[in-house]
Amino acid sequence: MKTICSMALILALSVMVRAADRDPTNYAGVKMCGICHKKDDSGNQLAKWQTSPHAKAFELLGTPAGKEAGKKVGVDDPQKSGKCLKCHSTAYSFTETCAVEKIKPEDGVTCESCHGPGKNYMKKSVMENRADAIADGLVYPATKSCELCHNDKSPTWKTDRFTTEDGKKVGFDVEQAYVKIKHTDQKVKH
Ligand code: HEC
Ligand code: HEC
Ligand code: HEC
Ligand code: HEC
Repeated sequence: MKTICSMALILALSVMVRAADRDPTNYAGVKMCGICHKKDDSGNQLAKWQTSPHAKAFELLGTPAGKEAGKKVGVDDPQKSGKCLKCHSTAYSFTETCAVEKIKPEDGVTCESCHGPGKNYMKKSVMENRADAIADGLVYPATKSCELCHNDKSPTWKTDRFTTEDGKKVGFDVEQAYVKIKHTDQKVKH
């Protein structure tokens, strides 16, 4: 597994250079984000994420439903397939190969899949200034990231998952979806 991942890393890097704004070598990992974002007086984003579907995205692939969905597209073990992990983990970073070894696929879809790789923006002085954080790689607004995964390339895509205010059925509705995973920080200016 380890060698496969290293070989994959070289491939993934050559692919990712073009998507330079999400350089996978800049992933810091959810533990790093959690060091500062677990305080109850600023919204405890870590705890909110831990109980969200994104934290369970890898686990889901190992359930009967995950295996069933895999079978339909010829994938025997979804927890080992880049065809699934590209959207069900941060480690594969939107590609079919493991992009960075220090991020575990088991962590599922972490903070940085939405907010961008954090190595350069996660210093306190940078984080407190939105413009500086964006300059150092923070994706803002993070709602720009949702449709990298919530799209019709997903084998379980349903065109009628959401109903908009005017009664239209859609596969994804960013506003309604965000409400379900909201993790507001009262110290951030909105
Ligand atoms: C050293 C502490 C620290 C670390 C580590 C850290 N942050 Fe922050 N972050 C802050 C502070 C401080 C703020 C400003 C808001 C506040 O005081 O709660 C902030 C704000 C944010 C915001 C809101 C930005 C805005 O202007 O809307 C996001 C999003 C965010 N952090 C994501 C992350 C992610 C993702 C990681 C991991 C890659 C991370 N942070 C790591 C301290 C940190
Ligand atoms: C293009 C991104 C993408 C890929 C590739 C992908 N998934 Fe998903 N998957 C999602 C998203 C996003 C959801 C959440 C449901 C939604 O909103 O579409 C999801 C949900 C699921 C669910 C829950 C069913 C449901 O309707 O909510 C299962 C099971 C699943 N995926 C299995 C798999 C398997 C197995 C693979 C690989 C063969 C795979 N997925 C590949 C994005 C993806
Ligand atoms: C599924 C995508 C997603 C994941 C995963 C995610 N976030 Fe967010 N987060 C968002 C969105 C969207 C916002 C709203 C502001 C924006 O659009 O940037 C937000 C807002 C925030 C804010 C600012 C809150 C505010 O009041 O504006 C902080 C801080 C934050 N996230 C930290 C984190 C941390 C830390 C993690 C991981 C433990 C995490 N997020 C996981 C998408 C995500
Ligand atoms: C890296 C891929 C990825 C990104 C980026 C992503 N998601 Fe997801 N999302 C998933 C997967 C995979 C699931 C299914 C996980 C599960 O059910 O355990 C999911 C499930 C969900 C669910 C629960 C299922 C549903 O449709 O009700 C919501 C809500 C959701 N995502 C909202 C968002 C929002 C809002 C954003 C952007 C701010 C976002 N996601 C960004 C992969 C992603």
